[in-house]
Amino acid sequence: MQLCRTVLAPGARSRGPSPVGRAWLCSPGYLQPTLRSGRGARDSRFSLPITEIDRPRPSDITKSKLFQAVRSAPDMLKSDIRSFWDQGSAGEFWAVGSDAKARFLAEEKSRYQFEPFIPEFADFAAATDRVVLEIGVGMGCDHQQWARARPRHLLGTDLSWRSVAYTRERFDLFDLKSDLVLTDCESLPLASDCVDLVYSWGVVHHTPNTPQAIREIHRVLRPGGIAKVMIYHKWSLTGYMLWTRYGLLRGRPWCGLDHIYANFLESPGTKAYTVKEARQLFGQFSDVRIAIQVNYGDLLQSEVGRRHRGLLLTIAKTLWPRWLVSRLLKRQGLYLLITALK
Ligand SMILES: C[S@@+](CC[C@H](N)C(=O)[O-])C[C@H]1O[C@@H](n2cnc3c(N)ncnc32)[C@H](O)[C@@H]1O
Repeated sequence: MQLCRTVLAPGARSRGPSPVGRAWLCSPGYLQPTLRSGRGARDSRFSLPITEIDRPRPSDITKSKLFQAVRSAPDMLKSDIRSFWDQGSAGEFWAVGSDAKARFLAEEKSRYQFEPFIPEFADFAAATDRVVLEIGVGMGCDHQQWARARPRHLLGTDLSWRSVAYTRERFDLFDLKSDLVLTDCESLPLASDCVDLVYSWGVVHHTPNTPQAIREIHRVLRPGGIAKVMIYHKWSLTGYMLWTRYGLLRGRPWCGLDHIYANFLESPGTKAYTVKEARQLFGQFSDVRIAIQVNYGDLLQSEVGRRHRGLLLTIAKTLWPRWLVSRLLKRQGLYLLITALK
């Protein structure tokens, strides 16, 4: 396995699977299904000993044998996290339309309408000719923007079958190319120092060992490479609202925000960080910039996640003083936008 961990030479051009791609595919991760998208998928040079599942649709996922095998993994928390995201990907509530293409387009439109700061933060155009890795692709909307910028090599990961299947379907529909791998961000099957840019939006706070995930980001980045990562901010309006609903109104005001995020926000064990803690997490990096961003959940706009519905929320949505909140409580946003230089 070690042999496969080849480092991409600086400036090397990729024809077929680059050394990065080979490392990706030959690493221990090859035991998991590797889903390839776009033109490369039909290239015989890629016929490595991979278990290829042909185009799983999200509805088939829970029936898949491989899915069952993955579920029996010893790490039960991670298994629960995977299971949560296998039941519904982030942003699925925006994907409405008569066919798959229409649904992806609708999701893309709503995503950037409600989160216009994503393209600004990500700076997708910077991917041109770079080796880009996205960790936690979800439905693949941002991944599609990276692909459109024509990176030298695009790699994408997610722990959830549903997410990888969605992204693959999306890439096939829009004729885009990426090496998509179902894998765990705490152990990336990738050589060290080989990626120019790592992007991860709302992912590493879900994994049990977040510091390990960030060490992995640092390891795979080449010196001078950039990480763009969004993680949740502890002192957020979303946190206070969840605390009111699940702490105060349930007669448990002593419940801390950590407990609230871990049990009521999204997948089990979700974490949120103060700016100081985020700085510590990225302590290995040479330069770290952190911005706080209010999101559509803080403003009670749109759907706020599949766990949160009901009369109380409907009333709160009607009465919420969005204009005031977005101007006066800018430092109470749920998102920490982190740009870190290796
Ligand atoms: C909130 S979603 C974000 C998805 C996407 N980045 C987006 O913005 O829509 C979190 C994603 O993280 C993935 N995830 C959770 N733990 C992970 C891990 N250990 N390794 C890789 N992906 C993970 C989940 O499967 C899920 O797709």
